[in-house]
Amino acid sequence: GKIRKPKNFVCTISDDRGEEATYAGYPISSVATPDTGKTIGDVVSLLWFKKVYPRWAVDFIETVIKTVADHGPAVSGAHNAKVTARAGKSVVESLVTGLLTIGPRFGGAIDGAAKYFKYAHDNNMSPAEFLNYMKKQGIPIPGIGHRIKSVRNPDKRVEGLKKFAAENFPATPLLEYALEVEKLTTSKKDNLILNVDGTIGILMVDMWRALGYTEEEIDEFIESGTLNSFFILGRTIGFIGHILDEKRLGMPMYRHPFDDILYDVQKAEEIK
Ligand code: ACO
Ligand code: LMR
Repeated sequence: GKIRKPKNFVCTISDDRGEEATYAGYPISSVATPDTGKTIGDVVSLLWFKKVYPRWAVDFIETVIKTVADHGPAVSGAHNAKVTARAGKSVVESLVTGLLTIGPRFGGAIDGAAKYFKYAHDNNMSPAEFLNYMKKQGIPIPGIGHRIKSVRNPDKRVEGLKKFAAENFPATPLLEYALEVEKLTTSKKDNLILNVDGTIGILMVDMWRALGYTEEEIDEFIESGTLNSFFILGRTIGFIGHILDEKRLGMPMYRHPFDDILYDVQKAEEIK
């Protein structure tokens, strides 16, 4: 009989063997050109979720990507990318240094926000119980807090995402819970708002529930880092913009000014 060669790789999202490569079974031409009416949101739903999401969900994904594309030059990732570009490195080298800052403090609190708020809501914790629970975990609540945005200087991106959800989502139970938590955190300190990461993570859970995913499937998305991926994807647009900006401007190598560093080094004779 025929002996099948054991396979080293498995691929369930795309196929390049035919006349035309496919995204989850859909030929690229059926999603790529403007006349198909398909957007980047559709491509993400095919390649990340292997599903054709309804229009409101595709539009939400698209809105998220556009919303997180950039937030100026001063944030961790853009700063790293700019410094690296100015050290004469390539686009891809500069880009990865920016991407590497995405994590629990910057842009990568989306999975964590989904995880902890979902857990609290599923277990009927009151906002006060949730705050207590997070204190015991010993970590800041992912999705809460911002360096420059606050109750007095609201984040328009968060308002935009909440408006989109109010107008398009069938229901937003986790967002409603998160807003109750936000009331409590902002009563303690006015920059402890539900931030853009938190809003995205929480609304993605509401979206997946509305799309009929099981709790296990949603937990798997969270554990595998799916939610942070929306930030990684979107912010790549901005980082590349900053890198090209540096190259066009022909900026020299960056060196940080002495007067912005507190030098607090012991003298050799003080060190035993
Ligand atoms: N949960 C609970 N308490 C918090 C939180 C939080 N998420 N964030 C800050 N605090 C508290 C701190 O414990 C601290 O309290 P203290 O003064 O009693 O010591 C106080 O608020 C100030 O904390 P800082 O770390 O100085 O706050 P900062 O404004 O520098 O931090 C940051 C901003 C890093 C975003 C922080 O709020 C945080 O870690 N949040 C959670 C992670 C997160 O959601 N990151 C995504 C931000 S949005 C984005 O990057 C696109
Ligand atoms: C961002 O989107 O990069 C920000 O919310 C972080 C910041 O400090 O502005």
